[in-house]
Amino acid sequence: KILILDFGSQVTQLIARRVREAHVYCEIHPCDVSDDFVRSFGAKGIILSGSHASVYEESTDRAPGAVFELGVPVLGICYGMQTMAQQLGGKVEGGHKREFGYAEVRAHGHTRLLDGIEDLRTPEGHGMLKVWMSHGDKVTELPAGFKLMASTPSCPIAGMADETRRFYAVQFHPEVTHTLQGDKLLRRFVLDICGTQPDWVMKDHIAEAVEAIRAQVGNEEVILGLSGGVDSSVAAALIHRAIGDQLTCVFVDHGLLRLDEGKQVMDMFVGKLHAKVVHVDASEQFLGKLAGVSDPEAKRKIIGREFVEVFQAEAKKLTNAKWLAQGTIYPDVIESGGAKSKKAVTIKSHHNVGGLPETLGLKLLEPLRDLFKDEVRELGVALGLPPEMVYRHPFPGPGLGVRILGEIKRDYADLLRRADAIFIEELRNTRDEKTGKTWYELTSQAFTVFLPVKSVGVMGDGRTYDYVVALRAVQTTDFMTADWAELPYSLLKRVSGRIINEVRGINRVTYDVSSKPPATIEWE
Ligand code: XMP
Repeated sequence: KILILDFGSQVTQLIARRVREAHVYCEIHPCDVSDDFVRSFGAKGIILSGSHASVYEESTDRAPGAVFELGVPVLGICYGMQTMAQQLGGKVEGGHKREFGYAEVRAHGHTRLLDGIEDLRTPEGHGMLKVWMSHGDKVTELPAGFKLMASTPSCPIAGMADETRRFYAVQFHPEVTHTLQGDKLLRRFVLDICGTQPDWVMKDHIAEAVEAIRAQVGNEEVILGLSGGVDSSVAAALIHRAIGDQLTCVFVDHGLLRLDEGKQVMDMFVGKLHAKVVHVDASEQFLGKLAGVSDPEAKRKIIGREFVEVFQAEAKKLTNAKWLAQGTIYPDVIESGGAKSKKAVTIKSHHNVGGLPETLGLKLLEPLRDLFKDEVRELGVALGLPPEMVYRHPFPGPGLGVRILGEIKRDYADLLRRADAIFIEELRNTRDEKTGKTWYELTSQAFTVFLPVKSVGVMGDGRTYDYVVALRAVQTTDFMTADWAELPYSLLKRVSGRIINEVRGINRVTYDVSSKPPATIEWE
């Protein structure tokens, strides 16, 4: 396995991701772990990450001395290169112009790390790499034993190598996709130079995770809030695999779920997996509290608060429960500046079930916290969850509550559920000829929004005066920015025809053609 020491860069998780994609197991730990930790970890190689500090002098973080004494290969990236240079007797200078973004790096001589890896070749025969750089300071003097491996006009030492000790360092970021050959470079390091085997697969992970959960909870009981979403479902399936009936899932129906969602969750978890699930129909309570409230933030707060209340009431009935399980995944941990990456700057706080563990006095069980979303999905399938469930678009916690504009009424929710089910069904059933994929697969998130306005229509001989819905479908990789999807007109036509004909009460369908930014994905 590979040890990644985190100096706080926002992209440290991408290093882990690239290593895992090479099927090599790795873990990220803070850069200030002890020498003993480093010695006993059993790493076949160590990677030192970049830092969030833009200037070297802002940070006093150094790698534990043991890193350079173990005799295993070390790769320093960005700040990791600077600290390696400093700690091994080279020189780093600050106060330089900040270099940020795309750069072309020239490779020097033959090094095991870069040999044969290049994007283009200059007329003079130099191999060039197209990379992404972000740094203020730079190494100005190589430590003893190192040779120059790469350079740019403004950063004469952009890479260095000590092939005897197998220490390598690059000033650019191989973990981001803008560095075209970054993937190859990291594979070269972990597979060829560190000599790891590409044998980390999901089934090993299940066995390891099951053992870990059993060891952690012993014979105590666990509760889990099942939402029907991917993360809580996979967490539930995994924990159930480990401890069976010691797990109780609580599924709170707030009346703002999609069509038949409650039934699907119960069929899967009770029918197929034989898990213990408490199904709470709290729709009266939620819709009652939401009556007359139209401000989006106020609605969100009420839904969040009621959720905690209902869940807590159920949890109190399970007097033996000592653990609260959550489907927290790795990006959540990073986003909230969580335990593993103490150094990362907090972007936004993230709660799956806000505030629950503190008020319940339960211990937290988070078996997915080292996994990326696609790994969670792979795990779900390996655990026997249906792919349709595991590859579902994300669905917000407040559910249809943020898709019914303004005041929420049960009638509105019922109309919206039926219209939305038609839209999703058509997306799943319509394939794009070029790619052979369904439009559900080709979009990142798609849903219907209920607009509480009425417009005039005509049906048969009669005049109608009914509600309007908007269809929303977006494509995005990170949900921070998104484009509206160019769905085929024929598909939109079929969806609109079906909704207007099949859902009495809706007589007009519109398509949302706004990107994010400046619009958001949801309407509230
Ligand atoms: P926006 O609307 O901000 O949405 O562009 C970005 C992504 O976040 C989801 N979202 C939420 N998820 N609770 C959630 O669990 C929420 O309150 C919430 N609001 C938005 C949204 O569905 C989209 O995927």
